[in-house]
Amino acid sequence: MTKKLFIKTYGCQMNVYDSVRMADVLAPLGYRPTEQADDADMIILNTCHIREKAAEKVYSELGRLRQLQEKRTQEGGRLLLGVAGCVAQAEGEEMLRRAPQVDLVFGPQTYHRLPEMVTRVLGRVSGASGLVDTDFPAESKFDALPEEAASQGAAAFLTIQEGCDKFCTFCVVPYTRGAEFSRPVSSLLDEAKKMVATGAAEITLLGQNVNAFHGEGPDGKTWGLGRLLRALAEIDGLARLRYTTSHPRDMDDELIEAHRDLGVLMPFLHLPVQSGSDRILDAMNRRHTAEDYLRIIDRLRGARPDIALSSDFIVGFPGERDQDFADTLKLVTEVGYAQAYSFKYSPRPGTPAAAVEDQVDETVKAERLAMLQQLLNAQQLAFNQGSVGRVVPLLLERKGKFPGQLVGRSPHMQSVHVQAPDRLLGKIVQVEIEGAHANSLSGRVQTDIFTSDHDMAAPSREIRTA
Ligand code: 5AD
Ligand code: SF4
Repeated sequence: MTKKLFIKTYGCQMNVYDSVRMADVLAPLGYRPTEQADDADMIILNTCHIREKAAEKVYSELGRLRQLQEKRTQEGGRLLLGVAGCVAQAEGEEMLRRAPQVDLVFGPQTYHRLPEMVTRVLGRVSGASGLVDTDFPAESKFDALPEEAASQGAAAFLTIQEGCDKFCTFCVVPYTRGAEFSRPVSSLLDEAKKMVATGAAEITLLGQNVNAFHGEGPDGKTWGLGRLLRALAEIDGLARLRYTTSHPRDMDDELIEAHRDLGVLMPFLHLPVQSGSDRILDAMNRRHTAEDYLRIIDRLRGARPDIALSSDFIVGFPGERDQDFADTLKLVTEVGYAQAYSFKYSPRPGTPAAAVEDQVDETVKAERLAMLQQLLNAQQLAFNQGSVGRVVPLLLERKGKFPGQLVGRSPHMQSVHVQAPDRLLGKIVQVEIEGAHANSLSGRVQTDIFTSDHDMAAPSREIRTA
């Protein structure tokens, strides 16, 4: 019997990937994905803990879903409610106390056990207390997960590592996702080949600390990310590679050389620095200086002159003074970002920075954030304006808001709107950029005659895009 599964995904691309995998493992139990929560037999909230008040937002969503669940029970049916992801991991049993209507609370390392958990819950009467699984099992969930079934389309995501051992003092990830774990290279190559066979032209490698990757290679040796990228670049039909999110300390020579040598590795890197002040970087336990970061950027630009950069910033970290913030603005000016994310520091219970006395006033944080965002927005607009008049290869990923419109990504991760027929979805086309806005570009398709999938404008393995 077919049942309907609705997964609401919050947060990062890792969660998007995990949601696809959850749908895959539940398919043998008869669950098929639905876009509507209203008619679902099971709803899973795949949660994220990185933002402020994340847990509170999940509890209010659960409050709303409770009504749907009660209505279903009155009609003689049953709606299972599950909470996955980092909030589930952090809250554990507490979640069942505060939201007793929840059937399943399970952490990011347990998704392969989902069918068993669902079967156990279904075997219980409706209303029995829920199940919690927030273990970090010894076996890897990746080994136990079945091969991915559903195609992710033209732009696919592949999780290559999970967890983090860096312990930045503001961050919950080492606690919610656990220790750093890298998948073996051979299974990654197999999965990537399948993705390409089912329509992927671009693969983005994912991990909380993706460039800390150190997976076991087919030769029995440990491979770093640079080596993995080289092997992936050999896959026929794969036109684009990206990876996110990286830590400056793990930008090793091999990885920088991959940017020099691989045309398929897109000229865009999200490399969070968080702050431009050495004092704050030290307090954050980032274990590098502003100068170290700038030197890495120089080397990346030496290897790949057209590389565009992105970062995350935190303002108002405990103890941050005006001078520290000025150092951040200085670093931003020196680097010149194509885009960036910036946040006010918000304490995460259980992390070292949350216990520091010297917290920054909220109004100061807000002022600093506004100043930083003004600078970053100006840089982003200038970067986008610099694209006008250029011809760039665009991977058309989805339909736009208006009829006849498609949206694609440039090599530099810019969203570009074009008028193009639907048959070009999933293809790479050459587009002349005509207009630039803060968050997107518009352009005109130059070529639309194709002999096969993403053949034309795929950057050649030797020659780089402009
Ligand atoms: N407060 C504010 N921002 C945070 N981030 C992570 N933890 C916190 C926190 N406690 C930001 C960092 C990280 C991004 C994913 O979220 O900038 O790189
Ligand atoms: Fe968190 Fe990233 Fe630091 Fe790891 S490297 S602790 S994921 S901010």
